[in-house]
Amino acid sequence: MKQFEKESLGLFPTPMYRLPNLSRELGTNVWIKRDDLCGVALGGNKVRKLEYLLRDAKNRGYDLVMTTGQAQSNHAMLTAACALRMGMDCILVLKERGVTARKGNQILNHLMGVEVRFMDTDSYEEIYREMDRIGEELGRKVYKIPCGGSNALGSLGYIDCMKEVADSGIRFDHLVCACGSGGTAAGCVLGAKLHLPDTKVLCSMVDDDAFDVIVPRLMREAAELLDISVEIPEPDLMEMWGEGYSIPSKEGNEAIEMMLRLEGIVLDPCYTGKAFAGLVRRARAGCYRADDNVLFVHTGGAGGLFAQDWEV
Ligand SMILES: Cc1ncc(COP(=O)(O)O)c(C=O)c1O
Repeated sequence: MKQFEKESLGLFPTPMYRLPNLSRELGTNVWIKRDDLCGVALGGNKVRKLEYLLRDAKNRGYDLVMTTGQAQSNHAMLTAACALRMGMDCILVLKERGVTARKGNQILNHLMGVEVRFMDTDSYEEIYREMDRIGEELGRKVYKIPCGGSNALGSLGYIDCMKEVADSGIRFDHLVCACGSGGTAAGCVLGAKLHLPDTKVLCSMVDDDAFDVIVPRLMREAAELLDISVEIPEPDLMEMWGEGYSIPSKEGNEAIEMMLRLEGIVLDPCYTGKAFAGLVRRARAGCYRADDNVLFVHTGGAGGLFAQDWEV
């Protein structure tokens, strides 16, 4: 397998442990992988991807990075935090969608002093063109990181995560993660195929993009990058959660309360609350046996919790 250089930005391996109160409540062994505790800003899944992406940017001689997402993008905030740590400049060209006010992740972007430009568009193509235009205007080369850091190189971060889980020696029957732009799901499913072949992976989709196409494509591209010949697996289950991106759901919000009250762990309304709701629903529907080990990958996102008014 080909190796790719990565920058050491996070504290890895992240903690992983059994949640006793939730296990009792749900009648199965619920475990958590705390990628929210990975040590940069409010933590989260993007750091694993950025370790590869920003090292690649540096190696190719870039010192200006741009990325995109919606106004409260955790990915954009973490890209800024990681790029600044590496002494690179960062401009966020965000969709003028979601909470643009100085709340949640926008507070952190402001505190970092990173330049944020909003575009009133739903087209990422238009945003990438605007990044090129800004680069030309500044007379600088721009390293463009796609929305969510979800390309083949970024996905390698979650193959690493699955290796970390496998190295614990604990057998997991099921693993649950949130899916927003696809890179985490692609890394988890391909990584599980390589390192955790007995684990079923459930990807909880928080958006209605064509993930049935996007996730396998990312897996194929990641396998090509690694130069491994592997049959591209299907995710065991992909479920859509809630009414759409960034629209909190009742079950998601109840899952957030349950996790906080029973285990003192903060989830978020956009991604991890909905993903954990998927685990709760399946546990209550009897999909997990009492002696199963079910791993929830906590992908972060706490900033988003403080961006919106809380109504359940
Ligand atoms: C907190 C959080 N969890 C999960 C995801 C989903 O990850 P991905 O974009 O790789 O699908 C994201 C980003 O989109 C996120 O910010």
